[in-house]
Amino acid sequence: MAKGKYYITTPIYYPSDRLHIGHAYTTVFCDAIARWRRMAGEEVLFLTGSDDHGQKVQRAAQSKGMTPKEYVDHIVPTFKELWRRLDVSYDDFIRTTEPRHIRVVQEIFQRLYDQGDIYKGSYDGWYCTPCETFWLESRLGEEKVCPDCGRPVEWVEEESYFFRMSKYADALLAHIEANPDFIQPESRRNEVISFIQSGLEDLSVSRTTFDWGVPVPFDPKHVTYVWIDALSNYVTAAGYLQDEAKFNKWWPADCHVVGKDILRFHAIIWPAILLAAGLPLPKQVYAHGWLLTDTGKMSKSKGNVVDPIRLIDYFGPDAIRYFLLREVSFGQDARYSTEALVERINADLANDLGNAFHRSFSMLKKFCGGVIPEPADPEELDTALQALAEETFRAVDGAVRSLHVNTALAELWKLVRAVNKYIDEARPWALAKEGDSRRLGTVMYHVFEALRIIAVLVTPFMPRTGQAFWQQLGQSGRVEDQGLAASAWGGSRPGTAVQGGEPLFPRLDVDQVLEELLGEAAEKDQGAAGGAQDGGAPGTRGGATGPSGVNVTGGTEGLITIDEFAKVQLKVAKVLEAEKVKGADKLLKLRIDLGSETRQIVAGIAQHYSPEELVGRSIVVVANLQPAKLRGEVSEGMLLAASDESGRLALLTVDREIAPGSAIR
Ligand code: ME8
Ligand code: MG
Repeated sequence: MAKGKYYITTPIYYPSDRLHIGHAYTTVFCDAIARWRRMAGEEVLFLTGSDDHGQKVQRAAQSKGMTPKEYVDHIVPTFKELWRRLDVSYDDFIRTTEPRHIRVVQEIFQRLYDQGDIYKGSYDGWYCTPCETFWLESRLGEEKVCPDCGRPVEWVEEESYFFRMSKYADALLAHIEANPDFIQPESRRNEVISFIQSGLEDLSVSRTTFDWGVPVPFDPKHVTYVWIDALSNYVTAAGYLQDEAKFNKWWPADCHVVGKDILRFHAIIWPAILLAAGLPLPKQVYAHGWLLTDTGKMSKSKGNVVDPIRLIDYFGPDAIRYFLLREVSFGQDARYSTEALVERINADLANDLGNAFHRSFSMLKKFCGGVIPEPADPEELDTALQALAEETFRAVDGAVRSLHVNTALAELWKLVRAVNKYIDEARPWALAKEGDSRRLGTVMYHVFEALRIIAVLVTPFMPRTGQAFWQQLGQSGRVEDQGLAASAWGGSRPGTAVQGGEPLFPRLDVDQVLEELLGEAAEKDQGAAGGAQDGGAPGTRGGATGPSGVNVTGGTEGLITIDEFAKVQLKVAKVLEAEKVKGADKLLKLRIDLGSETRQIVAGIAQHYSPEELVGRSIVVVANLQPAKLRGEVSEGMLLAASDESGRLALLTVDREIAPGSAIR
């Protein structure tokens, strides 16, 4: 395990009361990497913050009747609250309005001016204030609206200071070419290279049209424009001009993580400023893709956002973290929809992860008195599980270090699924029944050792889940403090009492979620429907929500209550054996595996299914039916099947692998 230090940054965020989970992606992504490296024993500086200045902020403040300072002071705590709710473990939060930063901005500006890299000039052009972008007239059409957000652009004419960026183009290109990892992913690196090769212009770095910014030290009717002000936050937080030892320790940054919309700022403008200032360049700039909704990129200016606090309240922080980290592939865009989120939760968290833990807890309780048993000599099945656990650590570590966080989770989930498969194959319930306590002990030890390792490795991605599992496993202390070294095989002590506990991720019903989460949002949005041509919250597509989903509140004749339905215990059962019942041409006798026990049931399906085609299938049974005798054979339960008027019959099965005995609700 590489020891060392790692300085990772998010961009500083624009103060806005409309953060969405697209924004949260950058931060959660950095957080997972920061946590992983801390658990690997490295010293980490994880920086985030707020981009307090600029005309956009000044106007937003005006519209609320506040001064810009009052406005940002009011908004920034809401960011911090969002990051707190998502368990974002930043080490420093920088605000560009802080004195430590204003000083750095002014000194860099002065220095570049003194050495002739900043000069006075003037510019004009069509400008979109919300997007902070100049547009060529040819892109605007007759309406003169921003091609990105559709709002009117303004003609701006201004005296300005310019940074001689063109002068650094060659040096920058040479650096990019000599350092293949400097810009990631590769495709973005190529884009940046061709952009620089097409010629860099000097950059306007001051404004006179507004005053909410850092004054240019030698000409205070100008304020510094976004570039030098915002980008230099990364050196301020590292201690530049304040603490030389600290700065030497942390600078250059190891990785600036940014959305692809601001890659050029970070891969061209920022390195050019650093080259001019005589400072080392960051080791890496990584551009991730966007979270898209059905109506396009989530964006504050477009208004198609989902309130992230609401999502966190509803699903819990770890489900959101998992979704973001798993769904967004390296450098690619991903799609957000509530349906996709629920699907991930059900498949990966409730089914794979939750199931691995909870079926194991109940088996340990039932078969081993809730105590981790002593293992005997392992068999091939067992050593294969151990080998996979060891391989998983290396795979996840490699993926995190190369910023492929989604791959890291995919690798970890291979182990999660392998535990479920191991249980299915090793069949502890059968061992318990046979009284083979030696083999049972070995199997359960292996199950719990793999689960303990999963709890450790999942923690950087889902800190609460990791800790909750750690406790449920009867381990003491904070899993975070154990470090990744605790993921080495063999850490479980036989004799440890396992506590178990409630499932952390119950299965969700997508219709119910949509109704509870978006039904409410749809009502709210209708109230404020004004300029909603961009669409409301994602997922509120036509007709999916609204009055059609409300509960029946009228007559209740012939209807049952949910409590009445809950009396019927439906379970998944695996067919172990099947044969015809002698003397009855309609009946089949099945031996089924219900997870913790096997049973015999008799079913009238012999004319529709052959015994051979049933063995190995997962079917649905009523598990709490009073036993009955059919043609002398005991039936302890009933399987479910559908039949139509033509007499066709279809067996109810499950649509993916799930443990025998799983409850159906
Ligand atoms: O750009 N999907 O701040 P910001 C994924 N202040 N990421 C998204 C996203 C989406 N739909 N929408 C936004 C700024 N982001 C400047 C940065 S740095 C010196 C100055 C990401 O608040 C975006 O790509 O607009 C960026 O990484 C972060 O949210 C902050 O965006
Ligand atoms: Mg932005």
